[in-house]
Amino acid sequence: MIENLKQKIEMLIKEKNVLFLAHNYQRPEVQDMAHHVGDSLELSILASKSDADIILFAGVHFMAESAKILSPDKLVLLPKIDAGCPMADMADEESLIATKKKHPGAAVVSYVNSTAKVKAHSDICCTSANAVRVVQSLDAKKILFLPDRNLAMYTASKVRDKEIIPWPGYCSVHDNLDAKEVIEQKAAHPDAMFMAHPECRQEVLELADYAASTSGMLKLAKESDSKEIIVGTEIGLIHRLEKENPTKEFIGFRKMVCANMKKTGLDDILHALENVDEHAIQVPEPTLSMAKKALDKMVAVPRNF
Ligand code: 13P
Ligand code: SF4
Repeated sequence: MIENLKQKIEMLIKEKNVLFLAHNYQRPEVQDMAHHVGDSLELSILASKSDADIILFAGVHFMAESAKILSPDKLVLLPKIDAGCPMADMADEESLIATKKKHPGAAVVSYVNSTAKVKAHSDICCTSANAVRVVQSLDAKKILFLPDRNLAMYTASKVRDKEIIPWPGYCSVHDNLDAKEVIEQKAAHPDAMFMAHPECRQEVLELADYAASTSGMLKLAKESDSKEIIVGTEIGLIHRLEKENPTKEFIGFRKMVCANMKKTGLDDILHALENVDEHAIQVPEPTLSMAKKALDKMVAVPRNF
């Protein structure tokens, strides 16, 4: 049954010239079928360079929307059209316009986890992989950073010569982890390295040996001599960590599950390939062209490390 499903997906992928991208938090069976699994920055770059006719994006809405903006002539499919990112919806166009008026001269940096309309009113976008370098690349001394307050504060701690004004948004999956839980895990695994996503609270990042994007963590895990690694991000990353590092032990926090990232199954992938019109992402003009400027600038900025 599952083999039959996989065969049908593979056949349609070839027949329709599809690039299949999956985020690092997707379900294992989805990751295992994708052409590329990665973090937001890697997947955005792949989407912007692809010569496939269709991009099938297993992730959440802002990711597929960004792929569409970066490759407007392509058909971009989101298998679960209701897979959103609640943090992206914590900043809206009207509030951003009003806030910009309060901070004349401030540059606007929007995390890629944001809506197309918010990107359209931003000077540049960033991901967790390049936020520090994006902010450093700007001449402005004052930065309005949205929607993630934790990524804003993390970036501010690395870029001391600029004033960063954080938006009050947050990711409930990452913001829910507290210092006490980390201290308990560290006590249970005293030799373990601890790495965390910059969407975590400051009190958690202060306990971390490294803060990095999801693919940054994969790189760190590979390069580290530690045999035990505590992972402060969505639990889906453990699949790739274990696959790529079979001799190491990864300790996650079981409560860190993004329900939206887990919505997509292989049956949804097949449905999207068979019913492309129902899954196609559309971004109207002038939003698309305005947002594209901010995203094109983002993909040109290298990773933090
Ligand atoms: P990355 O860009 O690190 O993959 O993270 C995306 C995300 O949604 C984190 O919650
Ligand atoms: Fe959004 Fe958080 Fe899920 Fe990432 S983990 S997609 S930031 S809700």
